[in-house]
Amino acid sequence: MGKVYVLDHPLIQHKLTYIRKKETGTKDFRELVDEVAALMAFEITRDLPLEEVEIDTPVTSDAKAKVLTGKKIGLVPILRAGLGMVDGIIQLIPAAKIGHVGLYRDPETLQPVEYYVKLPSDIEERELIVIDPMLATGGSANEAIHSLKKRGARQIRLMCLVAAPEGVDAVREEHPDVDIYLAALDEKLNEKGYIVPGLGDAGDRLYGTK
Ligand code: URA
Repeated sequence: MGKVYVLDHPLIQHKLTYIRKKETGTKDFRELVDEVAALMAFEITRDLPLEEVEIDTPVTSDAKAKVLTGKKIGLVPILRAGLGMVDGIIQLIPAAKIGHVGLYRDPETLQPVEYYVKLPSDIEERELIVIDPMLATGGSANEAIHSLKKRGARQIRLMCLVAAPEGVDAVREEHPDVDIYLAALDEKLNEKGYIVPGLGDAGDRLYGTK
């Protein structure tokens, strides 16, 4: 089973409170999502491998130091709300390549349908971070992860701002190899498919649409 990490750092939790508040406007919402995404990236990359190198400092030579091994990272936001977290993450991981997966929900079957996929050519070598701010039923995340695996992806993590238990269970069941990173695990889904207490429609709040 994939692990579930709730990143309950005080800065993340504080900012998430303002993201949730209904009176927070588009500009602040966007900035706060960026900031939380950067803080989450800090936690998600905690296990990146390091190697020892020797460097000269102004004070001594051959000092032992550490650098990243250059493990390649790929970000894959699910359109459209996933885009809102990308800038924050690339502040910390500027060399990450970015793929995109677009999905819409078929109004009759209610199943997610893929309408756009563009990925880095070497996804099989990359640690991919799928970004889906609101993990509600898990349908979109599961479909996006299937789509990446079908194209050769081997290492995938899922990053969400807020999740419902239903979505977490659905992803863990369908993709037991995928660890999930959340800023919050909320109570439930309501009858309209919104996460409760949640933050409303993340895409609408990021882009000022309704
Ligand atoms: N998508 C959203 O943007 N918000 C929810 O609460 C559920 C799905």
